[in-house]
Amino acid sequence: MPFVEWDTSFNTGITQFDEHHQHLVDLLNKTYDDYILGAPDDAFGAVLTGLIEYAGYHFDAEASWMREHSYPKLTEHLREHDSFVLKATRFQQDFQNGNVSISLDVLTFLKTWLKHHILESDADYGRFIRQAE
Ligand SMILES: [Fe+2]
Ligand SMILES: [Fe+2]
Repeated sequence: MPFVEWDTSFNTGITQFDEHHQHLVDLLNKTYDDYILGAPDDAFGAVLTGLIEYAGYHFDAEASWMREHSYPKLTEHLREHDSFVLKATRFQQDFQNGNVSISLDVLTFLKTWLKHHILESDADYGRFIRQAE
């Protein structure tokens, strides 16, 4: 069973972002698997970097879309994105400093954050655009 199981309730109704979210879930699952299986440090580091970079790409795409559509909750939404980036980057730094043994809780934080953010905050812009149409 994957660390995060994809569920249709994750769909926002905006195809581009639903595909991004599926890819993010895949990347987080890969990060978790490599962590649990004890992948070589450089391989795990590369997977973690891939997750952070893709999250950044996705967050930028959402931010542009929200600005384009004058989404009213832009500021608070971006604040949530920042908290993910901060935590994931700290985890990356811990890993690079050799402190990963205490960090399973960070992967659990990223999982909980991702599910909660998609189901609550991302779902909200999906509802917003449906109401606007
Ligand atoms: Fe978001
Ligand atoms: Fe998102």
